[in-house]
Amino acid sequence: MTQFQWPSNGPATLVCKRKWAETSNSVSFTLAPESINDQDIAFNFIPGQFITLGIEIDGKMEYRAYSLSSMPNQTELQLTIKRVAGGKVSNYIVDSLQEGQAVSVLKPAGEFHIERRSQDQAHGNRIVLLSAGCGITPVMSMAKTLLANKDDSTDIHFIHAATQIDQIIYHQELLAMAEQHARFHVSIMLEDAKGSDYLEGRLTQAALANYCADIAERTTFLCGPVGFMGAMQENLQALGMDMDNFYQESFTPAESTQPDVELNNADKVEALANATIFVPTFGAQVEAKIGSALIDALEAAKVPVIAACRSGICGSCKCKVTKGEFTRTSTETLTVDEIEQGFVLACSCQVHSDLEVALN
Ligand code: FES
Repeated sequence: MTQFQWPSNGPATLVCKRKWAETSNSVSFTLAPESINDQDIAFNFIPGQFITLGIEIDGKMEYRAYSLSSMPNQTELQLTIKRVAGGKVSNYIVDSLQEGQAVSVLKPAGEFHIERRSQDQAHGNRIVLLSAGCGITPVMSMAKTLLANKDDSTDIHFIHAATQIDQIIYHQELLAMAEQHARFHVSIMLEDAKGSDYLEGRLTQAALANYCADIAERTTFLCGPVGFMGAMQENLQALGMDMDNFYQESFTPAESTQPDVELNNADKVEALANATIFVPTFGAQVEAKIGSALIDALEAAKVPVIAACRSGICGSCKCKVTKGEFTRTSTETLTVDEIEQGFVLACSCQVHSDLEVALN
């Protein structure tokens, strides 16, 4: 089996091989090279990582990042996508992506993966995979990969929250994994447990401790909607978890973590004004509100920037500010040198003055 070679710059073209309904509002599908000659080619990535898909919708290329749920070294990549309100790309995939259709794919990336787990044997050998809804995908990849490794002895507690029994993604697969592996334990909490034996309610501190008595001593990987993740982080901290052993990811736009800038009167007048964003290479110029995200201005200027996660995670929107003032809420994927040179993630960069920008 040879490894798939990702282009060093830009996306690969892969084809949707199979697509099926996972629940009433989510689908799974696989991607592989189109050519039949490529069927011995496998994909390498670290369980927990994501890929960025580019799909043409209404004549415009749209990019989004999605976590992989398959294992490394398989001939197809698998993803599961859930319908979301206003989710242009997700809903297109659920409703319209066809088997045989080509999509652009940027190589796997991301720092939320099992190789991050604690080096401390006591913690790293016992983990909690905690998820809600479609946040199950990266942790499913982690669980399957660890269980498939005969030399691995990690004890895995898989805790998942869903709305109802028929909305549990990978439900039967999870039960089969628990049946086959004594070191894999599954706990499921439902908002509405009608028709099941699962507990109904929210994953409170008490519920987490009840499911997994030694939860505070484990390395934890958390993925799900932002509100869920905030609540779980608080619960785990309250239960005494060492947050050095805690990792999380969510593809949701980041809130600013910059302190509010103290404005004097002159600045206040300025703040009501627009700044000018200039991208010389494309001869593009556009107005942007002070404090707004640079990505919005670049998109308004029709500069070909890719914004796949809009959360400061994937690095696809990297560009360089050559003049002007700005703040950053994420520097994920940027090196120290790049930060010093003025590289930013446009989705996580706030405009503070007129800017001149170069795409990398
Ligand atoms: S779009 Fe992913 S980091 Fe900006």
